[in-house]
Amino acid sequence: MPITVTPFGGPLGAEISGLDIRSVSPEDAQALNEAFLEHHVIVLRDQKPTDQQLVDFGKSFGEIKKSRFVSPLSGHDQIMVISNIREDGKPLGQLPDGEMWFHIDQIYTAQPCRGAALHALEIPSEGGDTCFSNTVLAYETLPDATKKRLDGLTAQHSFQYGATTIGGKQDEDRPRYTHPLVRRIPDTGKKSISICRLMTDRINELPDTESRALIGELCDHVENPKFVYQHKWQIGDILVWDNRCTSHARTDFSETERRFMKRVTIADKDVPMA
Ligand SMILES: [Fe+2]
Repeated sequence: MPITVTPFGGPLGAEISGLDIRSVSPEDAQALNEAFLEHHVIVLRDQKPTDQQLVDFGKSFGEIKKSRFVSPLSGHDQIMVISNIREDGKPLGQLPDGEMWFHIDQIYTAQPCRGAALHALEIPSEGGDTCFSNTVLAYETLPDATKKRLDGLTAQHSFQYGATTIGGKQDEDRPRYTHPLVRRIPDTGKKSISICRLMTDRINELPDTESRALIGELCDHVENPKFVYQHKWQIGDILVWDNRCTSHARTDFSETERRFMKRVTIADKDVPMA
């Protein structure tokens, strides 16, 4: 059965049906990649892969990165477990609790990932949604004068969640990296705003006050609900997102309920370029 791509009709995203990810043909992989490039977020429902099958599915989109931490909830070194499940009070996964501000994964590194695939195994009854902003659309809708103003600017991002935006104390030892503020996506030639409230520290070419004001202005723009799709998870969902064309956030959820996701991270073959 050929796969069907049904756009969500909002700022981004499409549902893929007619595919069991445990067996992906080269034709399926090509269709998946086309949908990924066009819609930035794709969702497949009711999937039941093993860890290795999830890794193999991820390979349809590129090379898979190793996880920095191997969780006892998986054991596979290419699976990142995102969960608040605890043993003796200690989380068995990463990013266990609560809300997360909008961010671009690994933006503080030289080569942020191309994307990731996330599989939902246990979800809270309310909250823990993932919101995706379309940063290509956000760029395209900027006034021409603003686009011109951003031309040639670079931004520095630091692995110090939130401290940057609220003007808190910066630890210079934290991993940090500078990228173009507007990057071009090699596959499509489109441009995307590369900024996020969680980790962008400064715009290098501007004085501090102006830099902070522009970061705030651009983050407000990117997070405008008209660019955002909010994914309400169902068990069995697999969602793949393009980390170059989106910024994502997580809504709050109760610490008394379990949330358990497995993720594979897709490496990029390019570095961000203007
Ligand atoms: Fe993330």
